[in-house]
Amino acid sequence: MLVHDGHASSRRFFTSANAASYDRVAKYATFGQDLKWKRHIMEALGNHNPVLELACGTGVLSSMLALSGRSVVGLDFTFEYLRESMRRLGIPLAQGTAEILPYRDGCFGAIVSSYLAKYVEIDRLAEECWRVLRPGGAVVFHDFAYPSSPSMRHLWAAYFSILRLCGTFIPAWRIVFQELDRVIKESRWESQLQTLLLKKGFRAVSCKYYSLGTSAIVSAQKP
Ligand SMILES: C[S@@+](CC[C@H](N)C(=O)[O-])C[C@H]1O[C@@H](n2cnc3c(N)ncnc32)[C@H](O)[C@@H]1O
Repeated sequence: MLVHDGHASSRRFFTSANAASYDRVAKYATFGQDLKWKRHIMEALGNHNPVLELACGTGVLSSMLALSGRSVVGLDFTFEYLRESMRRLGIPLAQGTAEILPYRDGCFGAIVSSYLAKYVEIDRLAEECWRVLRPGGAVVFHDFAYPSSPSMRHLWAAYFSILRLCGTFIPAWRIVFQELDRVIKESRWESQLQTLLLKKGFRAVSCKYYSLGTSAIVSAQKP
């Protein structure tokens, strides 16, 4: 198993203690933006099929994709989160890491993920996506971003101070609420991923920001 800073954070953040409450926390802690961002992922995805969701977690996005009539396969490395997905969905699921995909070359029409990019070894991720995607296939990656405007950065910091305070009353989420801002601030996933995708040969590489720059979607196509 690979181990680096992103993996270490992710392993401490997502555990049996918070798998069952994840969906509610994602909804309320983002003021409902989580679902909006996932709808933007679906729009960016177009009609590509079948779809691999990396870091599918409890299956929020996978279930939206399945409901839209797509064939979906999910992968995540946290067993307790996959178990929540299993309860909700009848799709093929695998426990594994996004940097070493247990799939043959060229078998997916699209690869999507939400909240993975800041935890992953991004160069390996780009390599593996290229390998398992069909020609003409699409990748769509979504994650939090650190806003660029100074006034928004003040608001962002205030939001995380409140979240940290909430964490003192919710032990299952304390570490996440205390450390998520640092992980987001230290990550340069949007720029790194765009550079890597272009280098690998992807076309139509684009990055769109949402919710005042606090979230981003990077998408691209394999020629
Ligand atoms: C914040 S949750 C997001 C779950 C889901 N994508 C969603 O949007 O609701 C992050 C998930 O990423 C998974 N994860 C983090 N790094 C991973 C990696 N390298 N490979 C596979 N899964 C990973 C964690 O296990 C966790 O389930």
